[in-house]
Amino acid sequence: MTSSEFAGFYKLTPQERLRFVGEFAHLDKTELDILATSSALKIDTANRMIENAVGVMPLPFGIAMNFLINGKDRLIPMAIEEPSVVAGASHAAKMARSKGGFKTSSTRPVMMGQIQVVGCADPEKARVSILASTEEILRKANEQDPILVSMGGGATALEAKVIQTIVGPMVIAELLVDCGDAMGANAVNTMAEAVAPIVERIAGGRVYLRILSNLADRRLAQARVTVAKEDLGGAEVVEGIINAYAFAASDPYRCATHNKGVMNGVTAVVLATGNDTRAIEAGAHAYASRSGRYSPMTRWSKDANGDLVGEIELPMAVGLVGGATAVHPIARIAVKILGVKSARELAEIVAAVGLCQNLAALRALAEEGIQHGHMRLHARNLAAASGATGDLVDMIAEKMIEEKKIRIDRAKELLAEYSKRA
Ligand code: MEV
Repeated sequence: MTSSEFAGFYKLTPQERLRFVGEFAHLDKTELDILATSSALKIDTANRMIENAVGVMPLPFGIAMNFLINGKDRLIPMAIEEPSVVAGASHAAKMARSKGGFKTSSTRPVMMGQIQVVGCADPEKARVSILASTEEILRKANEQDPILVSMGGGATALEAKVIQTIVGPMVIAELLVDCGDAMGANAVNTMAEAVAPIVERIAGGRVYLRILSNLADRRLAQARVTVAKEDLGGAEVVEGIINAYAFAASDPYRCATHNKGVMNGVTAVVLATGNDTRAIEAGAHAYASRSGRYSPMTRWSKDANGDLVGEIELPMAVGLVGGATAVHPIARIAVKILGVKSARELAEIVAAVGLCQNLAALRALAEEGIQHGHMRLHARNLAAASGATGDLVDMIAEKMIEEKKIRIDRAKELLAEYSKRA
């Protein structure tokens, strides 16, 4: 298999990059054409995906390079409007290669459906009665999705709890469902609605909500990485990153931004593969608050050698079947580029990208600052906007960066100067 490591990928034209990706992922001509044209999502498909569709909203679709995950080279598709995210991920992934890249793991893809029962005369007795009927409830749940069950998934357990609320106690029945390769919202919601009348009868109260929980803490993905201090730029950078982590662990204002940096990577891959970005974000932030205090999604420390060690664990309810992943033409290509065969494999890659993106941000913050990378792209954009083409774009951008004058008027002056010389 071709390596995902590629120095200067950014210097290629989009067409040259696509050719490389096509060869790496064995994309056929139709798939290459879909990526090359910006109108891949036809209005007919969009109209079947949501209501009241009037058009489509294209976003840049880029590839993060250099990822080595569980010993396998991967190209990472990312859909995102923000500059520097794809470059940051590629840069940090490269630094992680010499120590073997990212190592990942995950739990079974178990999601929870909650059934809310209010007005029970004796909530504790109702809770025990619900649990005593586990077999009947699971049978009813599994009747709703014989295909999932035939593939080894389905409702596997039932839990029940009494909670105290501002309007009195409630009994909450919780159905645990192995969703296999699906994100699972449809399967779980259908099951929760189907078992609700049984739960209501047994509990002797009134059922209101029957819905999946996005705090998918039974469906976790983990990733770990060691980065040699030399690859990061020295022991000082390791200290800087550990200090940045300590800052986030003790201050919610910094923690929100730290986690936003993680989600830059996570959401971009989740979106590129047609998965539900809001579900992942809700789950990730809720899980980050599970101790009662909003905490960093990643942890950074150093090993005996002084090398940087990073870890991440977060809920990852992504699927490969059903939903937009199955119908959106670009999402299908993104899955092919990733080369994943199961939802768990995808979940683990997303976790690794989140960890890597955080590494990229913390390294830049601890070193040259975040504006440096942004400015490089900005300078190139201004150079192009001034009318420059070909090599002139890079020449003008480099000059403006060197002079620390990244402005359109300077780009125009330089264009006039360089054009005269040519
Ligand atoms: C910007 O999109 C993300 C960062 O602010 C993340 C961070 O500060 O860690 C750079």
